[in-house]
Amino acid sequence: METVRLARQGEIAIATIDNPPVNALGQALRADLARVLSEASTDPAVTAIVIAAAGKAFIAGADISEFGKPPLAPLLPDVLDAIEGSEKPVVAAIQGVALGGGLEVALACHARVAAASAMLGLPEIKLGLIPGAGGTQRLPRLIGAAKAFPMMLSGEPVSAGKALELGLVDEVAGGDVVAAAVTLAQALVAKGAPEPARERDDRLTAKDREAFEVLAAEASLKSGDMPNAMALIEAVRAAFTLSFAEGLAAERALFTALLADPRSKALRYVFFAEREIARVPGIDSAVKPREIARAAVIGAGTMGGGIAMCFANAGIAVTLIEQEQAQIDNGMNRVAAIYEMSVTRGSLTPAKRDERVALITPAVGLGAAAEADIVIEAAFEEMGVKQQIFGALDAIVKPGAILASNTSYLDVPTIAAATTRPQDVLGMHFFSPANVMKLLEIVRPAGVADDAVVTAMALGRRLGKVPVVVGNGFGFVGNRMLEARTRATERLLVAGALPHEVDAALTGFGFKMGPCAMADLAGNDIGWRSRKARGKTAAVADAICEAGWFGQKTGRGYFLYPDGARTGQRDPEVEALIARVSQEKGVTRRSFTADEILSRLLDPMVNEGARILEEGIAARPGDIDVIWLNGYNWPAWRGGPMHWADTIGLGVIVARLEAQAAETGDTALEPAPLLRRLAAEGKGFADLKARPV
Ligand code: CAA
Repeated sequence: METVRLARQGEIAIATIDNPPVNALGQALRADLARVLSEASTDPAVTAIVIAAAGKAFIAGADISEFGKPPLAPLLPDVLDAIEGSEKPVVAAIQGVALGGGLEVALACHARVAAASAMLGLPEIKLGLIPGAGGTQRLPRLIGAAKAFPMMLSGEPVSAGKALELGLVDEVAGGDVVAAAVTLAQALVAKGAPEPARERDDRLTAKDREAFEVLAAEASLKSGDMPNAMALIEAVRAAFTLSFAEGLAAERALFTALLADPRSKALRYVFFAEREIARVPGIDSAVKPREIARAAVIGAGTMGGGIAMCFANAGIAVTLIEQEQAQIDNGMNRVAAIYEMSVTRGSLTPAKRDERVALITPAVGLGAAAEADIVIEAAFEEMGVKQQIFGALDAIVKPGAILASNTSYLDVPTIAAATTRPQDVLGMHFFSPANVMKLLEIVRPAGVADDAVVTAMALGRRLGKVPVVVGNGFGFVGNRMLEARTRATERLLVAGALPHEVDAALTGFGFKMGPCAMADLAGNDIGWRSRKARGKTAAVADAICEAGWFGQKTGRGYFLYPDGARTGQRDPEVEALIARVSQEKGVTRRSFTADEILSRLLDPMVNEGARILEEGIAARPGDIDVIWLNGYNWPAWRGGPMHWADTIGLGVIVARLEAQAAETGDTALEPAPLLRRLAAEGKGFADLKARPV
């Protein structure tokens, strides 16, 4: 099938790209575009060419799924060279998004017209890359490096209006963008086309270079572990120091090197994994969601208030319900204070704040949930409490309403059993702070209707979340694996590592925070209570809690937080306490390297992930990775725990787990059968097929 249609309007040829879903520049499209352009160029009846597109995107960029495979001709830079070298003016008619290679197509044209709603950007940085088809050379020539560099460094697209202001487009079309492009093309035929980007150097002034170098110096300080920021600086600098052709070659070499970098591979893997989660194995893609116009949230604590804010932020009316007036007043005050903070910081206007607060109706008593299309319970984490609430809601809410629990550990079918409508009951597990964190685990217990799950997914996306369907089971996916890491932390402390060493290994890996700092932030008493309820112990963590050191809120935990400090300091008393625990257990403490600590923290998580897959609690390894990336700060360029394990090699992970199990006598560290099988077959998690949860 042809991916570009050629039509004529008078003397203007219109090449319309049509390569659903997003007009990605795969080989077929590149070939068709080159062919159509050549036809139009040689047709004597044609005086100018418009490149337009059908569908929701102008062009979403290179076809990311082709990256890492042998390049297929024609290459995009060659197609762009033909566009730019055309003797007949070429005008881009941009509607929807023009991203990456898509914007680079437009940059190679002699002029650009954008629809008012169009968005234009070079997001390659987010994939661990830099623009690879002339973006780093043409954009600075068109708008100056001081404006081009920040656009490429952030990867964030700009609106058509902003693009006009930057000089990136020549015109924003009030009406039909193709008609406007045709008119502009006719004008260019009459008065002569402007010089293409490659011929221009009027923007590359000494002043522009100076401004760019200041920005480059700032960026190189912040570039962290990503090599592509440095590559971007080098490529943009080449626009000043090299000829256009040499600059293109330099950009290409940098781009090609980055393509092979495992960090970019991981980011591309994440791109597809985050899209894959929308396909829920076992649920027909034709199943439609139920309509959600009004919501209710039970419990106005930190979680409930945050969830209510998610609805208000998405423009959905929500009733926030408590048992008593004083509790709901407190809850609403907390919500108001959070919005106020955003206003003070300048991220929210007072008018928007008022609009959002007005969407939250405070109420006392479950009766206020009667009109809701979905009720999310965020009450105390205790089965008895949840069952009582769900039993009561069953008699109150209208038929077909979804009843969701925000439980983080409890058995969802047992909660559903308190109602007469298990087909409408599921889990919607938000992460704290609920108004900020992107992850949403949708727990699918046996017996829930498919359209209830689809509704929760669709709602999650409306709330701006990353919803992942998971099976029912203690801690679901994220917290169950977190617990494996928490147990590993305890083992390491007893064996000889100190809190700052454990944390440093993890922050060195790319996490923003280590497990000890994280426990101090969340409150050590939370895990303590949960352990006590389950009859479990953790000698170090328990002793710290027995001393009343609950973390930041008490000024000390694993670390010291003098005068309300947010970053902890080493605490000699805690370190002595840890040494005492080791002694009581008869353990001779030894030192651990950062690599040993990492392996001991992360390998057990991978093992737990393998069990989760075996048990059908997660549909795909990618779903587990998406959960860890969006809920627990796993560094995106490491691709998530399961992708990371694949990069290490499952045979290595198995051997390390066996050694850890032998040393500690902890059978939980024995490699999961799935992990053993994959390793024995020389496979990775990526070889697994999706299965229903
Ligand atoms: N390559 C391959 N597939 C792509 C793609 C791309 N560049 N962009 C989107 N898709 C696919 C998605 O995987 C998805 O496929 P499935 O339906 O099979 O899952 C489908 O198109 C629709 O995508 P979304 O679900 O993301 O749809 P959306 O409407 O929410 O968003 C979008 C559309 C804004 C274009 C978004 O997909 C996006 O940001 N895409 C990536 C853009 C990008 O990074 N481009 C730069 C590529 S790198 C480059 O161009 C290098 C160069 O210099 C040559």
